[in-house]
Amino acid sequence: MTSDELIKIGSVFLKKNNIKSYTIDTELILSNIFGQSREKFLVNLDIKFSQAQIDTFNNLISRRALSKEPIAYLLNKKEFWSNKLNIDKGVLIPRPETEILVEGLAKYFKNRQLFMLDVGTGSGCIIISLLQELKKSRGIAIDVSNKALKIAKKNSKINNTFDRIKFINSSICNFYGSKFDLIISNPPYIANHQLKNLEDDIKFFEPKIALDGGNDGLDVMRKVIYKSRKILKINGMLALEIGNGQYKKVSQILKLNKFREKVIIRDYKDNIRCIFSMLNHY
Ligand SMILES: C[S@@+](CC[C@H](N)C(=O)[O-])C[C@H]1O[C@@H](n2cnc3c(N)ncnc32)[C@H](O)[C@@H]1O
Repeated sequence: MTSDELIKIGSVFLKKNNIKSYTIDTELILSNIFGQSREKFLVNLDIKFSQAQIDTFNNLISRRALSKEPIAYLLNKKEFWSNKLNIDKGVLIPRPETEILVEGLAKYFKNRQLFMLDVGTGSGCIIISLLQELKKSRGIAIDVSNKALKIAKKNSKINNTFDRIKFINSSICNFYGSKFDLIISNPPYIANHQLKNLEDDIKFFEPKIALDGGNDGLDVMRKVIYKSRKILKINGMLALEIGNGQYKKVSQILKLNKFREKVIIRDYKDNIRCIFSMLNHY
């Protein structure tokens, strides 16, 4: 069978099973089996696939269609800020909203030499991307999940930042380090009563520890803000990614902890998704 035929078969099957991105997903699966980027692969649609390749294709398409397994977990990879990241079920799949956070920080701190802390590093997507932009900077990445730290380390090696990041298995609650110029966090921020309403591909596959933010979704957010007060340098910056609709509450917590908001960034749907703030010094 040719790639053209397989793309048609896969897309129809995914569409029937309510996968919205049916064409892209099929093309990604097929190009990955062929070992090429999707863009290169699509140049020639007459490629002949062997029976073994077709079996792999059928298996991955079924997992996507029937179990709703996310593409990033099926292919064990995801692109973020032009970095190719290894991904498995131990880590949250990096989201485009988080690239907005990286973009804002890269612009704000252009050419600066910073010592940063990434709280809840997951795949390492934030700190790796930032250190690629800020070549003179270095940092510490912490996570409560050992599985995540293993992936993050691997990703920093692949993306040439390993020598500038120290990885530590720790909760923010127990973390005491030196003082930082920048603390970044995209903490778990879904309220636990809302977890059941998430899409199947998130609810059944992504790690609960990366999603569950406690009763109101802000348990870890509070801990990060509270701890940042103690471990930020004077004029240091705390950069947070927040959930949709959480701005008012997070803003209040920041104020209570003597933070002053400096930058607010909205996502593609015009929701406030990132807050950069600094400590008030009297
Ligand atoms: C929403 S994910 C973010 C992952 C990654 N930074 C990203 O943006 O894709 C949150 C991460 O925080 C970690 N985490 C949860 N509670 C934590 C805590 N108390 N201290 C440190 N990390 C925590 C989780 O294991 C998970 O990797």
